[in-house]
Amino acid sequence: MAGEQNRDRWQRYWDKTSASYDKQMRFYDRVLFADSRAWICGQATGSTLEVAVGTGLNLPFYPARVELRGIDFSPAMLGIAQTRARQLGRAVDLREADAQALPFPDAFFDTVVCTFALCAIPDEHRAVSEMTRVLRPGGLMLLADHIAGATWPVRAIQRIIDVVTVPLQGEHNLRQVQAEGLNIERRERFKLGLVERLAARKPAAE
Ligand SMILES: C[S@@+](CC[C@H](N)C(=O)[O-])C[C@H]1O[C@@H](n2cnc3c(N)ncnc32)[C@H](O)[C@@H]1O
Repeated sequence: MAGEQNRDRWQRYWDKTSASYDKQMRFYDRVLFADSRAWICGQATGSTLEVAVGTGLNLPFYPARVELRGIDFSPAMLGIAQTRARQLGRAVDLREADAQALPFPDAFFDTVVCTFALCAIPDEHRAVSEMTRVLRPGGLMLLADHIAGATWPVRAIQRIIDVVTVPLQGEHNLRQVQAEGLNIERRERFKLGLVERLAARKPAAE
């Protein structure tokens, strides 16, 4: 029950934030995240799921042949993603769902993507475990996020920022990007270690 109330609260928060999200994110994409959207989406192949797709800022970066689905728990964020997909002429199946309980069978996708959302999903370990479950053996998980900085003075500042952002926005600044049980193929960290992106493959079935 407490979990559901929390979920409703963050869902409302993201519904409210949706109108200003793209403007905020344009700033972070420019100063912090560099070419991460192109780096992530350019590696997607086949049947692809984007978890916590938000307003669909990644949509322009997927290769045309990728068969795309996206989930998010905020109807307002999804509404903007839907409009963006229409404007781009991009076919994408968008639906409302919780990243912590994905409504797909095991081993369903060739690629699973999640960008700049593990910082906001309440139980990010459960979300990554769900992403791993729906990924087929041999499939690729692509993750990017802002994380705990590489040095202690940076982390000390982040700890102070967390005091405000965790309770008010559900935004965590000291997390890591992890793909437990998967084989890391590429991993890059930059901007004082504040941003990490990785490509990790699920081991093929025995
Ligand atoms: C910072 S935005 C990132 C959006 C997008 N991935 C991007 O790269 O711009 C975080 C997103 O995570 C979504 N989100 C947070 N917790 C979620 C959950 N438990 N299930 C589904 N979506 C969630 C929010 O609704 C929001 O759209």
